[in-house]
Amino acid sequence: MCGIVGYTGVREAYPILIKGLHRLEYRGYDSAGVALMGEQDDALKVYKAAGRVSDLEAAAAPNDCSGTAGIAHTRWATHGVPNGINAHPHVSQSGNLSLVHNGIIENYATLRDQLKSKGFTFKSETDTEVLVQLIEYVEQSRHLSLPEAVRIALSRVIGAYAIIVMDRRHPGVLVAARKSSPMVIGLGEGNCEFFIASDASPIVEYTRRMVYLNDEEMAVCKPGEELNVVTLGNDAVNPDVKHVELDLDMLEKGGYPHFMLKEIFEQPQCLRDAMRGRLLTHHKRVVLSAVSDHREQLVEARRFIFVSCGTSWHASLIGKQLIERFCRIPCQVEYASEFRYANPVILPGDVVVAISQSGETADTLAAIQLAKKAGAIIFGIVNSVGSSIARLSDTGTYIHVGPEIGVASTKAFTGQLVILTLLALAIGYERGSIDKGTYEKLIQELDVIPEKMEKVLSQNERIKEVADRYCGIRNALYLGRGINYPVALEGALKLKEISYIHAEGYPAAEMKHGPIALIDENMPVVFIATHQNEYEKAISNMQEVVARKGRILAIVTEGDTVIRQFADNVIEIPDTEECLVPVLSVIPLQLLAYHVAVGNGLNVDQPRNLAKSVTVE
Ligand code: G6P
Repeated sequence: MCGIVGYTGVREAYPILIKGLHRLEYRGYDSAGVALMGEQDDALKVYKAAGRVSDLEAAAAPNDCSGTAGIAHTRWATHGVPNGINAHPHVSQSGNLSLVHNGIIENYATLRDQLKSKGFTFKSETDTEVLVQLIEYVEQSRHLSLPEAVRIALSRVIGAYAIIVMDRRHPGVLVAARKSSPMVIGLGEGNCEFFIASDASPIVEYTRRMVYLNDEEMAVCKPGEELNVVTLGNDAVNPDVKHVELDLDMLEKGGYPHFMLKEIFEQPQCLRDAMRGRLLTHHKRVVLSAVSDHREQLVEARRFIFVSCGTSWHASLIGKQLIERFCRIPCQVEYASEFRYANPVILPGDVVVAISQSGETADTLAAIQLAKKAGAIIFGIVNSVGSSIARLSDTGTYIHVGPEIGVASTKAFTGQLVILTLLALAIGYERGSIDKGTYEKLIQELDVIPEKMEKVLSQNERIKEVADRYCGIRNALYLGRGINYPVALEGALKLKEISYIHAEGYPAAEMKHGPIALIDENMPVVFIATHQNEYEKAISNMQEVVARKGRILAIVTEGDTVIRQFADNVIEIPDTEECLVPVLSVIPLQLLAYHVAVGNGLNVDQPRNLAKSVTVE
């Protein structure tokens, strides 16, 4: 969590840093800060504020914001409440060093006690302030240069970090290092300037030439000199400069009031992008290079283990159904956070599928590190190109739905579902476990699924009207069977994430084993009851709710006349193949959550307490 930005070069740093922070606000937005330095060794100019980046701008506005180098931070609190004191950058006791940090220093309490015994005092409750003081202590006690002091200090640190440090006595020099938290460095023309950030979005409008720092590497950025990268063990590294393509328009709201709504409406195009070059409709083929390149390991896999978190975990549940149905390979779905500590049994022939929008989720990353050590092949289904999970995977498929900024995941989920369908079809075809007719029918259906999605989206106004009736609710139950059960979980997650309404997803038939006790005239129940999935049984479950006066909102297949008779509200989706229903049935649930949250006056793009990219355990 937390977003960091750094700049050093020939331009004014402040506007670049602030713009960069706005782009990284998805990573955390409870407080923010900036430190600037000029070309002389004057005092650092440090401004901080509780709240959002706009609050920082207001706090900094009356002050001198000049300087051609600086570092900045937008925070998601881990140690210490979000306030101006705990906000980064943190400054060392002498006032010489300033540091921003994304991650967690696990042994910070021990280090702080040691530093206190050496005469250091602390202003904040953060683990980060310990780090800047530690660097200063190492620098002073061993008379080291800044990069050396950073390197040695980091050898005493346990935990995760992406840091940028600057020293007012060395104008223009930024030292950056990372372990388990992301960091990318943009190279200006002729190395006259450097841009550092948690991801490429704050950098891309200035340069496309970027170096993704690897774990346990440190870089020294000094305008006019080559980027100097070493490992934390002090071995020289030849930086791998990549050309990064990122569409700037995709980073803006494009006329929509919120990123979330923009991203919901982008989904048909996102699916086309995700399938481009992979779904060859005219040739009636699915081609995934990962499957061709790792044919044997994937096609002869003994078992698939899905590891993921949040919305990506819901996609994994659907992935299991698809792989088992079309490939007849047994699957297991694990929360990455549980898997990593469960001493899991990993056997030869296991494929571990990591699903992650950001590619940086700490638990998912740790889960695949463990699985990799145990000998499993890692297949990544990731959105962020060049992210840590993508790089650690042995093979995989990007979902290519473009940057997702809204904290509640929408287009990444449907992108993941489409990639999982393509994966199941590609492997099933190679294994001969899917019959030709089904394979070809699904290819045709995938081809038209973006249009069917557009049809669901065209009902936005009507869904808003329904949502208006739900703004005052405090609880909701989401029910679905079979492939719609994970959709029920995802619908409930969307509602609670952005509207703070308690919502639970359940397999519809499980209702009678507990949740039915909650049902009365005040309990809204959202049923996903399309024609394909044990339709009659779902109707029986609905009748059980009606008998207890529950209020039903049903997501049904176009033309359904039965459910309409007893549901309070009905939203129709076009008919499709069963395995593709979730791609359509989740859309009304995304819109429902969105309109309920907006109707309640909430900030849907940055809901309280959440962050887009969870790089802490
Ligand atoms: C956070 C986000 C969720 C996301 C989850 C997993 O909790 O708010 O939207 O589903 O992390 O993230 P990933 O990037 O690994 O898919």
